[in-house]
Amino acid sequence: MLTAAPPTTRTSSPTTTTTTTMSARRRTMSMGSSCAFVRATKSRGTRGSAGGRRSAPSTVRVVSEGTGRFIVGGNWKCNGTRASVKELVQTLNKNVPQIEKNCDVFCCPTFLHLPYVKENLDSRFSVCAQNSWVEADLVDPEHHYDSTTGAFTGEISAEMLEDLEVPFVLLGHSERRTLLGETDEIVGKKVAHARYHGLSVVVCIGESLEERENGTTFDVIFKQLKAVAKEIDDREHSSWGSSVVIAYEPIWAIGTGKVATPEQVQEVHSKIRNWLAENVSEDVAKATRIQYGGSVNASNCADLAKLSDIDGFLVGGASLNGDDFAAICNASSVHYKAVGR
Ligand code: 13P
Repeated sequence: MLTAAPPTTRTSSPTTTTTTTMSARRRTMSMGSSCAFVRATKSRGTRGSAGGRRSAPSTVRVVSEGTGRFIVGGNWKCNGTRASVKELVQTLNKNVPQIEKNCDVFCCPTFLHLPYVKENLDSRFSVCAQNSWVEADLVDPEHHYDSTTGAFTGEISAEMLEDLEVPFVLLGHSERRTLLGETDEIVGKKVAHARYHGLSVVVCIGESLEERENGTTFDVIFKQLKAVAKEIDDREHSSWGSSVVIAYEPIWAIGTGKVATPEQVQEVHSKIRNWLAENVSEDVAKATRIQYGGSVNASNCADLAKLSDIDGFLVGGASLNGDDFAAICNASSVHYKAVGR
């Protein structure tokens, strides 16, 4: 079960933020035993000023401030048969006693396998959908909150995930951006809509090799972040840190075996945190957990976990091996030790 332990080293705790304005329907909806994350707050009207500049903060170096917990996700992508998913679930369940308690863990099966996994995977693991739908041409922020169920063949709505009590959704994965043409704008709208339906979101951002080589890495990821921040109302910022996880996944490192160096990851993560501090709020910057994804495996995770601004991993290929995935989760202990917690 995801148990958001009380933060250990902070003065203000976003995990204690309650979602008092949530609709009755949302208030009564139980996330079951699999989600202790603060739910998104329903709010309408005033648009956030997230795009506007705020006073420049000092460098923000507070790790996992919001929940105090490392977070590791397994993105199973478009993989699995009934038999292989069953086997993976069994292996993961077998590993539960070995997985450190100080780590939040989620698994993202395909939509087809999601109900089976939710039913059979130990509640130590949360389940996470790989996507949810929102209409591209919604421009009025009010409409993010309209239903997205209906005549959208082949899609899955946030409402359905809410109904199935799926606590997390992965949004903006680079494979969807590059192969399916998802724009920054669409990803931002998806995030807002999913949060409105009480889902915690893992938003993927990251640059291509070409962008890294031509020196536009930060232009790209700040633009991706801005599209998300723009869609989140100011009043929702208080729950951002506990309900929005950023996954930095450089495209050139995904599935290539070419993991980014610890220095490259630390540089980007700390700039993401500073961007959040300047453009959203310092509290959000401290509270937001930033995962690294891209060829993470059981052998390289410890080196990366030592970095102060890495709050977890989003794992593709290696998450299909339950034993390896459990080992990656346990990099949390390396992280806490390295950052003195
Ligand atoms: P790999 O770990 O296979 O590189 O995939 C990373 C990823 O895309 C996770 O979302």
